[in-house]
Amino acid sequence: MKIGFGITGAGHLLLDSVELLEKLMAKHDVTVLLSAAGEEVLKMYGLYERVEKITGGYYNELIREKEQKFSYPITGRFSLGKYDLLIVSPATSNTIGKIVNGIADTLITNAVAQAGKGGVKTRIIPVDLESGDLDTVLPSKLELDLCQKCEVCEAAADCPGDAITPGIEIDLLKCQGCGACAVACPFSAISAGKIITIHMREIDIKNTAKLHDFEGVEVLGHPSDLRII
Ligand SMILES: Cc1cc2nc3c(=O)[nH]c(=O)nc-3n(C[C@H](O)[C@H](O)[C@H](O)COP(=O)(O)O)c2cc1C
Repeated sequence: MKIGFGITGAGHLLLDSVELLEKLMAKHDVTVLLSAAGEEVLKMYGLYERVEKITGGYYNELIREKEQKFSYPITGRFSLGKYDLLIVSPATSNTIGKIVNGIADTLITNAVAQAGKGGVKTRIIPVDLESGDLDTVLPSKLELDLCQKCEVCEAAADCPGDAITPGIEIDLLKCQGCGACAVACPFSAISAGKIITIHMREIDIKNTAKLHDFEGVEVLGHPSDLRII
């Protein structure tokens, strides 16, 4: 099968999505499409290199929104029906909100729009599925209540991306999610993979519900619900 796999900028379900991608790559031609935020967030969670490593070659490319211009000519492959399937996992509330309002101004929303026009089946795995609270995972975080504001910060010294301002914060846009800081800090003041509970907004849940009316689009609750591997 020829599959397009879109990754947007959600931390939630991101690891499960990369694991699904790895399984699909072993059996199918998979073109990976990264939204600009998807690329940033993959790096924050230390997953970007994992995706980069498995991509390459015709129809197995890594397409980065940051390297595209405004008309996303690559998505012409979807309008021409060159793919059997488009998967978007995870799909942020931003991306879902745009899709259900017919907006196609990002790499991923454009791919979904063109897939609709080209008759390519689409499977979307949204983060915002059900009302209520959701447990989700954070990237590396400096816990200020544990930080001893050492004269020489060992976590900052070991950070390859120079992302840490000691005693203040981690700049997530510089963080590569390698976890070296958490190992280096003798006071365990850096958490990685901390679980927090967030409240789902009703507008996002309503937007996700609207996806069900889209021809050719199926909504899945989790990457493991995809049944084509
Ligand atoms: C660490 C981190 C995690 C995020 N996780 C989520 C998430 O789980 N769900 C979501 O809707 N947005 C999340 N965002 C916000 C999106 O990245 C942001 O809305 C972005 O504009 C989405 O763009 P995209 O839909 O084009 O990928 C996260 C941002 C950061 C920095």
